[in-house]
Amino acid sequence: MKKTIQNKIHSLRNKIRHYDHLYYNLDRPEITDYEYDQLFKQLIDLENKYPEFKTKDSPSLKVPGLALEKFEKSAHSLPMLSLQNSYSKKGIRNFYERVSKLLNKKNLTCFLEPKLDGMAVELIYENGFLTKALSRGDGLMGEDITENVKTLRGLPLALTKKAPPLLEVRGEVLIFKKDFKRINKEQEEASLNTFSNPRNLTAGSLRQLDPKITASRPLYCFIHSPGQIKGLDLKSQKEFINKMRSLSLPCFRLADEKIKNPLDLCGLSRSLKDIFKYYEEMQKLRPFLPFEIDGIVIKVNHFEEQKTLGSIARNPRWALAGKFSPERGTTQVIDIKLQVGRTGVVTPVAVLKPVFIGGVQIQKASLHNFQDLKKKDIRKGDFVLIHRAGDVIPEVIKPLIKKRRKDSEAFAPPSICPVCQSQLIRKGDYLVCQNLKCSAVAENKLQHFVSKKAMDIEFLGKKSLRKFYKWGWLNNYSDIYALKDKPLENKEGFGEKSHRLLIQNLEKSKKSSLPRLIFALGIPLVGEQTAQKISATIYEKYKGQDLDIEKALPLLQSLTIEDLESIADIGPLVAHSFEAAFRDPELIIDLKNLHKQGVRLIKKDKQGKAFEGMSFVITGTLPESRTAVIKRIEGQGGRVTSQVSQKTSFLLAGEKPGSKKQKARQLGIKALNWVDFLRLIGGGV
Ligand code: IVH
Repeated sequence: MKKTIQNKIHSLRNKIRHYDHLYYNLDRPEITDYEYDQLFKQLIDLENKYPEFKTKDSPSLKVPGLALEKFEKSAHSLPMLSLQNSYSKKGIRNFYERVSKLLNKKNLTCFLEPKLDGMAVELIYENGFLTKALSRGDGLMGEDITENVKTLRGLPLALTKKAPPLLEVRGEVLIFKKDFKRINKEQEEASLNTFSNPRNLTAGSLRQLDPKITASRPLYCFIHSPGQIKGLDLKSQKEFINKMRSLSLPCFRLADEKIKNPLDLCGLSRSLKDIFKYYEEMQKLRPFLPFEIDGIVIKVNHFEEQKTLGSIARNPRWALAGKFSPERGTTQVIDIKLQVGRTGVVTPVAVLKPVFIGGVQIQKASLHNFQDLKKKDIRKGDFVLIHRAGDVIPEVIKPLIKKRRKDSEAFAPPSICPVCQSQLIRKGDYLVCQNLKCSAVAENKLQHFVSKKAMDIEFLGKKSLRKFYKWGWLNNYSDIYALKDKPLENKEGFGEKSHRLLIQNLEKSKKSSLPRLIFALGIPLVGEQTAQKISATIYEKYKGQDLDIEKALPLLQSLTIEDLESIADIGPLVAHSFEAAFRDPELIIDLKNLHKQGVRLIKKDKQGKAFEGMSFVITGTLPESRTAVIKRIEGQGGRVTSQVSQKTSFLLAGEKPGSKKQKARQLGIKALNWVDFLRLIGGGV
């Protein structure tokens, strides 16, 4: 009897691991979420009933453990080597010719892989169970990051097939570009530090003492090389990768002509020509890949040959990283200008001698703030190293001191606003103009108000706004809607047609929504997402009925700091900023005037979003964090509530959904799995 139960538990675990692998690594689920959930439930029930059969590797345990005090150090059983780099075809040719000569071979077979730009880890599986995970450290000793690694998406805690007694493998942990962007946006909106690139975010997330934080970040791992292995007879890198894949470990495989899988990114070469072809193809593919790569890795395929070649110091002689030309370049700083943003923050901007980097001409680069500028000591006339990563704003890395003119002077931060000449105030790393009437602040606020994601008033560009502001027509937001009565026809650059178009667009934008209006007000730290969250709270208070500005205003004014902080992801800084804005009598009058001008808050956003008017309940674990999913739903005009009711449009059910799924079924509410959900949004994974 007991044996049968143990077998049943064992088989359930294997099934779950198998379906996890299909779902996470192959993106090819074979059973419905419901069927999966039933398997999971059976496993949990049996494990609870028969705790003697609980094991450390059960998929039921793939949830974050407790926070650590510090990471323990641990030695790698084989050193984790690093790769020699080359940035040119010449370097690749040298490598190929050198190894061919050393091996005395003509058409040497090499295994080609993308070089992932993430964080290296070593995973140790003993008898098929993940028992330890180490960071690279200095290559000899790493840190024990097992608890964090266990939370990686799609990484099995136990291997599905008959595993060898010891399997030490190395891989790269990374985060997808889209998640990097999203997380940075969230950090920014919450006034937290942003990460400079996906690798930093990955490293920062993996080195968290609290595995819950790691678990909240969608990190993935790809295995690329063997460590110490006992009980497997593998002859080549190709065999290694295939074997790992069959053991359900995530890795890139050889590209197959017939079965196109986006993760089949590896190649096999028999000549230098093949390698060059792969190098060029990957370089072209690079901007379209969902994660960062910084080159290719060329590995002599056969292990016997690798052994013959051995290694020099810390680099194996049998492998080379063919790095892509970096998206960096040098140019000269023509000037350092000061920009005043809509919140009054004064930012230094480097005006550069135009230069092409990664195919794009760069003329300006942000210098972030004066603290940063001082630290880097960038001066007018300096030659500087600049960097551009994807679609991120170019950045000045450092000045080339050797090329600096003797008479150059350090940049002196301003003490007065470059636009209105009022005294600047220091706030942390920033210098801020606090003059509410500063024309730069006012013009930027107006620009923000009319922008696409705010009130979306087309035909009211930067230049027109500036003119209208100069003519004294725009002292408040509500004045924008009074433009229809202004004698525009006779003014320079405006004809009857442009006046008519402006009036039409002003009318169109009057049908707005509460989140758009809140966002449009340009309250410091209140971004689009925060505006949506606050609106959702207001709608909840108002029982979901249509609101107009007059009705919404007292509700917005009544929100206390505590109310605001109780909204997910709204911290004290954001809460104070919002609360202070609604204590400003001028803003209140302006809002009332917007109402008088006919601005209405309709619940249905005129953009016609995918989830407009729908309400969602989320249950179970999803591939993205709860916050991210809520953002997706709210971004498409939907709402998220906590309880299933007749009013619920959809239940979004992840792993281990619990009782909500049952309730939804009783009420006849459709449950969506992750893939259905993405399809509804109309976006990819
Ligand atoms: S093989 C010594 N393959 O690059 C050979 N490494 O300097 C073992 N990396 O941090 C590494 N992609 O984690 C190998 N496809 C790939 C790789 C890769 C990224 C990283 C590796 C290490 C660095 C080597």
